[in-house]
Amino acid sequence: MKNIVILISGTGSNMSAIVQRAKTQNWQARFNARVALVLSSTPNAKGLVWAKEHGLPAQVVDHRAFKEAPNPRSAFEAQLIQAIDPLEPHLVVLAGFMRILSPETTRHYEGRMMNIHPSLLPAFTGLNTHQRALDAGCKFAGATVHWVSEELDAGNIIDQAVVPILQTDDEHSLALRVLRAEHQLYPRVIEEHLKR
Ligand code: GRF
Repeated sequence: MKNIVILISGTGSNMSAIVQRAKTQNWQARFNARVALVLSSTPNAKGLVWAKEHGLPAQVVDHRAFKEAPNPRSAFEAQLIQAIDPLEPHLVVLAGFMRILSPETTRHYEGRMMNIHPSLLPAFTGLNTHQRALDAGCKFAGATVHWVSEELDAGNIIDQAVVPILQTDDEHSLALRVLRAEHQLYPRVIEEHLKR
């Protein structure tokens, strides 16, 4: 069985798009693949509620629980790895996961960890991508699915979705258009990967 582990921190709308696609496209029968675990870095992520309601195994590894540790990030990531690795994941999918992972952890999952970023990389790595695209006068925006590497938002690009920027757009209207495109792009990219 190809286990897919999805890491979230918030709404989880990409996670639910992936789970729905897995169901409608019957990933289990076609690719022997399943979403085996949803992991959240925060206990109050909305996506956790959705995952549980839909009968998915869901777990929290609360990054704040390691505040007092000598090295909070490595303690948090050790716990994450402990939750993920028993599943021997075929793919670890970052979907709105808001923690920056250390080089040790990204190396550990090299070639098995994907992320979605709300810009047309390599433009606008990091945060506030939509406002920055508007400020730069871009005519198009979009989202990128890429392999996760040591450098933030810099791994090999797998695929992208492009949306127009309208004269009337503000950060919110643009974010919504990009997010809708993400919901098509991410499940499709994962499905293509499972076909290989
Ligand atoms: C998306 O815009 C994604 O590109 C970014 O975080 C957002 C997550 O949204 N990494 P959701 O939690 O999937 O709704």
